[in-house]
Amino acid sequence: MADVSIAVAKLEENLGTWLAMVKECDSLEKIDVVRRTLLGKSSPLITALGQLKELDASDKRSYGDRINKVKNSLEAAITDVQSEVEELLVQEKLQGETVDITLPFGSGRFGSMHIITQAMRRIKQYYQSRGFSVIDGPEIETSFFNFDALNTPQHHPARQSHDTFYIDGFEDVLLRTQTSCVQVHAMLNDGIPIRMVSMGKTYRRDATDTTHSPMFHQLEGLVVDRTPLSIGHLKSELVKFISYFFGVNDVAVRFRPSFFPFVEPGMEFDCRYSKKDGKVVFSQSGDRWLEIGGAGMVHPNVFKSCGITEEVYGFAYAFGIERIIMLRDGISDIRNLYSTDRRLLRHYGLPS
Ligand code: DAH
Repeated sequence: MADVSIAVAKLEENLGTWLAMVKECDSLEKIDVVRRTLLGKSSPLITALGQLKELDASDKRSYGDRINKVKNSLEAAITDVQSEVEELLVQEKLQGETVDITLPFGSGRFGSMHIITQAMRRIKQYYQSRGFSVIDGPEIETSFFNFDALNTPQHHPARQSHDTFYIDGFEDVLLRTQTSCVQVHAMLNDGIPIRMVSMGKTYRRDATDTTHSPMFHQLEGLVVDRTPLSIGHLKSELVKFISYFFGVNDVAVRFRPSFFPFVEPGMEFDCRYSKKDGKVVFSQSGDRWLEIGGAGMVHPNVFKSCGITEEVYGFAYAFGIERIIMLRDGISDIRNLYSTDRRLLRHYGLPS
């Protein structure tokens, strides 16, 4: 009992010195040492707490309270100093990490735009310079935009030819199978006349091979006007674009009748070409024809579905962006375009 009262008095007497010791600490290591000295297992404070068990209940409480007061002020002081030191360390670290933006870059390798993005940006520039609007449409669509409004109602056989990814739990919501849906958005939202293109991803439940992928990009073009438009206008558009994209100036385009529900007449268009060093070269004098895309004059039912009642004329066309890149650059496997092999990317797009 006498021991305890002396020990407790000593703790209270030393508190001032100990608090000063704590305040002196300027590193986490010093704090650790001080914490172990003052509050560790063999510290005078913990020893005094251990002596309490010999006392009766009321002494236990009163000495216990006094010891805990000392303990609490030491703990509070240690916590304070610790957060001050930590804050200082953070500041120091931040200062040490300041980036000097005037330093030279060195010879680090930088990425570049993917070949598909590069192509889409070039196409965008071309169309914008010709006064077309370049618009985006949603990749997740309802069947209204992807099918119904494009004159492909519920039981139309053309629906089956597109193996569609439907969104789980929704009967009517799907990943668009074609960028033609953006035609519908344009007709519903923009006034006549329309001169637009849209580029983006489309999805079909296709098995992957050298020319197919369940995701690929399309370019869609649509022109609608009150003044009559003919297949001649459509052809001239296609010749201009293909000449630009492939960097040639005498492309021959031919149409073959084909069926797409949203155009009448519908057709596929081919370009005349010859092969040089394994690459396709378009020219008037080419000896073969290559299919490039689909096109046609907008079907009156599409205008009707989009609420256009006045007399208008329109043509539309589309082609696969991967396909024209592959033709231009002599890439024989579509999977190369989605590969992350740096050697391929460097060859086709990344600077080395
Ligand atoms: N949407 C069609 C497809 O993906 C391609 C197409 C054909 C688009 C004719 C058109 C068009 O705008 O007029 O198979």
